Amino acid sequence: MKFMKCSCLRNAAGAAAVILASFSFCSPVLAAVQSDSVAAGTEGSQNRVLVAYFSRTGENYAVGSISSGNTYLVAKEIAEQTGGRLFEIRTAYSYPADYGECVKKAREEKEANTRPELAENIDVSPYDVIYLGAPVWHGDLPMAVYTFLESGDFSGKTVRPFNTHEGSGSSGFDVKIGKAVPGASVTGVLSIQGKEAQNETHKLPFKVRNWIKSE
Ligand SMILES: Cc1cc2nc3c(=O)[nH]c(=O)nc-3n(C[C@H](O)[C@H](O)[C@H](O)COP(=O)(O)O)c2cc1C
Repeated sequence: MKFMKCSCLRNAAGAAAVILASFSFCSPVLAAVQSDSVAAGTEGSQNRVLVAYFSRTGENYAVGSISSGNTYLVAKEIAEQTGGRLFEIRTAYSYPADYGECVKKAREEKEANTRPELAENIDVSPYDVIYLGAPVWHGDLPMAVYTFLESGDFSGKTVRPFNTHEGSGSSGFDVKIGKAVPGASVTGVLSIQGKEAQNETHKLPFKVRNWIKSE
């Protein structure tokens, strides 16, 4: 099926419903690397905070073609406020920049319940609190986030999930993550619409601060 431009989707009545309906059947494909994925945060952070996130650049719903992923922008704000180390969860292969192709790839990965190989991983043992962010993909976490969760020992750690989405909200990220790492304590989800994170970044400091303080 030919890819639909995001600008067309924005202008089409009911487009969101069509797109979101398609999400529920999707599985994963990999995205381009964020240019400054590990630039923010502190190496060997004194407060033992890790901000791990998955985020895709390229063409996406409601925002056009982006060079900084929506979730990355939230992750960066969290890292700045906590002094935590920023780590990008990247797959060994790149997801298509084309939105429609990415939706198709992501759907295939979800249906097959795959665990994509990561380009690199991080030892989570030095960290007490792990902020974990991802976009909602087909009502779920991107499969690569399960790879990340299942490859580390999260026992006794606090995991604070956050996500961006275009209508699906928290999508039970706290429950899904809790099942993947049953030894961890998982708090409530910070959920922000992707186009708001991308286009109204001035709102992020306030939202993130309130959420960080909330638990
Ligand atoms: C493969 C794929 C599947 C998606 N599935 C959903 C979905 O089920 N529900 C939803 O609200 N948004 C869905 N979206 C929209 C993304 O969650 C949203 O654009 C998010 O902000 C992207 O974050 P990122 O830029 O950090 O990758 C999907 C996007 C893609 C690319």
